Amino acid sequence: MLILGIETSCDETAASVVSGEKNKVEVISNIISSQVEIHKEYGGVVPEMAAREHVVNIIPVIEKALEEADISREEAADKLGAIAVANRPGLITSLLTGIETAKVLSYFWNVPIVPVDHIQGHISANFIGNTDIDFPAVALTVSGGHTSLFLLKNHHKSECLGGTRDDAAGEAFDKAAKLMGLGYPGGPLISEQAEKWKGESGVSFPRPMINSNDNDFSFSGLKTSLLYKIKDNPDWKKDIPMYSHEFESAIVEVLVKKLRKAAEAEGARSVMLAGGVSANKRLRKRAKRMAEDELGAKFFMPDMEYTTDNAAMIASAGYFLAQAGEFVKAEDVKVSLDQS
Ligand code: KG4
Ligand code: ZN
Repeated sequence: MLILGIETSCDETAASVVSGEKNKVEVISNIISSQVEIHKEYGGVVPEMAAREHVVNIIPVIEKALEEADISREEAADKLGAIAVANRPGLITSLLTGIETAKVLSYFWNVPIVPVDHIQGHISANFIGNTDIDFPAVALTVSGGHTSLFLLKNHHKSECLGGTRDDAAGEAFDKAAKLMGLGYPGGPLISEQAEKWKGESGVSFPRPMINSNDNDFSFSGLKTSLLYKIKDNPDWKKDIPMYSHEFESAIVEVLVKKLRKAAEAEGARSVMLAGGVSANKRLRKRAKRMAEDELGAKFFMPDMEYTTDNAAMIASAGYFLAQAGEFVKAEDVKVSLDQS
């Protein structure tokens, strides 16, 4: 079955064609038009500007995804088995463009729609090219907007075990990078600085909620801690690699420890990472070691190109939902206001 995926929940306009058969998902085309250059200037995504860019980009991006998959306009109706579109959570005015486009295409091609939760999409990036995932699985989704732990019963059913009470891990990286004047998005920039640090560290950041008896997180205190530390140090600019290294250590340590606790409690046979922050090299290394060496579980993480927002992950989630018959008629697809 061929699935067209559409993703417009934040600042990437993306479309992808994947093919699915049994438990196997393969990406045939994956087109992303990023707006990072536009939002960089403001240190974060400006929703109104993001919405306008999606309107401009959506058709060319879909056309390119179909073209690279060798599907002509005339053939789309016959060749596609479903259109998977991210309909929650995200910026409402951004989501609308993807959803309305999917509805119109569904109407004209008479191809059913599968609405996809963006976070479920991030998790489903792990299904691309991997047929050996054992369930139950526990997934840590870490992005600019979310930090959550999920229990996966199969490819399309998941249950949220807990999440952040305030800032998401990616948001913490982005805010810390902004405080230090590094730019946007902050995660890769903080990592780059952190890699330069060698030696004895003169600072240490708190590990919020690391021992709490739940699956929740809290990262907002970390940026306040960073703010006070650099205020107290007139030479802080010289020490950016050290601050970055320690800031990253605090986040990675909390994430890996809580992932381990949840995986153990749920008897997970597979452990996985998902979301933009799963591109973080230290997180990938530590989580893999924890899952394989300490828990004896299988470990999965998305290929780098599928860590940040893309439509292949939406199409991958859409394929498994379609297998489960979770189609919706074009006129019934809604933007979900449920941002949880
Ligand atoms: O999943 P994503 O592309 O968008 C959302 O759904 O939010 O995630 C973007 C987030 C940003 O906060 C960015 O700073 C973070 O992922 N990120 C990273 C890295 N690459 C991207 N954080 C830490 N280390 C990285 N290498
Ligand atoms: Zn995302």
